[in-house]
Amino acid sequence: MSDPRQLSSKPKLPQNFFWGLATSAFQIEGSTDADGRGPSIWDDFSREPGRTLDGRNGDVATNSYQLWKEDIQLLKQYGVQAYRFSISWSRVIPLGGRDDPVNEQGIEFYSNFIDELLANGIIPFATLYHWDLPQALHDRYGGWLNKEEIVPDFANYAKLCFQRFGDRVKHWLTINEPWCVAVLGYGRGVFAPGRSSDRARNAEGNSSTEPWIVGHSLIIAHAHAVKLYREEFKSLQQGSIGITLNGDWAMPYDDSPENVEAAQHALDFAIGWYADPIYLGFYPPYMKEVLGSRLPSFTPEEMEVVRGSSDFYGMNTYTTNLIKAGGIDEFQGFSQYTFTRADGTQLGTQAHCAWLQIYPEGFRQLLNYLWRRYQHPIYVTENGFAVKDENSKPLDETLQDDDRVEYFEGATRSLLEAINEDGVDIRSYFGWSFLDNFEWADGYGTRFGVTYVDYETQERLPKASVKFLTSWFTEHTYNH
Ligand code: NOJ
Repeated sequence: MSDPRQLSSKPKLPQNFFWGLATSAFQIEGSTDADGRGPSIWDDFSREPGRTLDGRNGDVATNSYQLWKEDIQLLKQYGVQAYRFSISWSRVIPLGGRDDPVNEQGIEFYSNFIDELLANGIIPFATLYHWDLPQALHDRYGGWLNKEEIVPDFANYAKLCFQRFGDRVKHWLTINEPWCVAVLGYGRGVFAPGRSSDRARNAEGNSSTEPWIVGHSLIIAHAHAVKLYREEFKSLQQGSIGITLNGDWAMPYDDSPENVEAAQHALDFAIGWYADPIYLGFYPPYMKEVLGSRLPSFTPEEMEVVRGSSDFYGMNTYTTNLIKAGGIDEFQGFSQYTFTRADGTQLGTQAHCAWLQIYPEGFRQLLNYLWRRYQHPIYVTENGFAVKDENSKPLDETLQDDDRVEYFEGATRSLLEAINEDGVDIRSYFGWSFLDNFEWADGYGTRFGVTYVDYETQERLPKASVKFLTSWFTEHTYNH
């Protein structure tokens, strides 16, 4: 039997802290043509041969459009305080634009979903844009390439969501990981809409202008949605709103000045591109130096809206990269990413995963860096681990996901140290992901879930990692 005094002596998370799990609409919903939903850029892209590793698409995914009530029961069973999900723009405005009709069936779906979360004591964190742009907007005017059109269309969509759901949703995220939208969708062309055609300048064959144009539109669209929320809804609805940025810690390969500088350059390109304008009011000078006129400039009116346009810092992070000077890829700020330190040692546990290393100290250092540089409360909106070969292992090994448990043990330790020892103001931690799901260009082969999904039967089975998270957060949370 556990001694209650021992339990109560555990260091606690702050009272205003939430833990939860996260997903996004296209990765789990399926039912892509149900109830009046319009197509999104990911529908067509993922159906094109060769776009996903296993050749599969999002038509069924984890069938959560049908199984949402069961999913919520599972979340409740896990004891999460909050759930981060995204709203599919194409379900609520199938053609996407400000003059296009609203689909009441789509509204009803999310409205019922939010009610059900709340009825089960789970706080909704809603993302407005998790990469599934209505296809019609891409066809009509080039989607994110066309700032003049996409900004008012996004603001109109956001307004609709605030109007219909804002009485119950108090935590809004505008755009998820704009870096991925811009670089992977319009630079490397490995994500929808798969553009990498403008090859004029870059030796690597990366698009030379489109990613920076798209990034600029994303920042301005985000900022206008926030302005609207603050002007028309915030005082009435009493919620908060911000953006969620991806970014992993960049650690210099050694102490040499050029590698220390290269690590900062990597952070400028991965994080500063979005965070510097939003929290500080300008693009990173190094980006300007490298990109010259290819990096758009903010007009004074735009900057007025952009600066200060996030109530908090939304952080998605997965790993730490070792950085050396002298890379050739401008999307990484011309820094090289490496796995082994100058002294020959590995950074952390070498990945039992395709693309990341377990190095929890890096998570703590990144939290400190973001807190010091941007000075906003941090919401960790995604953090997680894809175990290598989880797709092909025997089921009992997949469910006993020790590598993922090791990852979360380290992350939660670093989280607590950052809060209690370093004084970083952190308000949430969301594990990615609630369910195994459609991992974009990787299809269903890469599993990030703390819940195993059998894609034949849609059965959900908890993995050891969720048991770890539930008990860790129960022990460290005040109101349990
Ligand atoms: C970032 C994205 O927001 C999410 O959609 C993706 O599945 C995870 N990271 C894992 O790659």
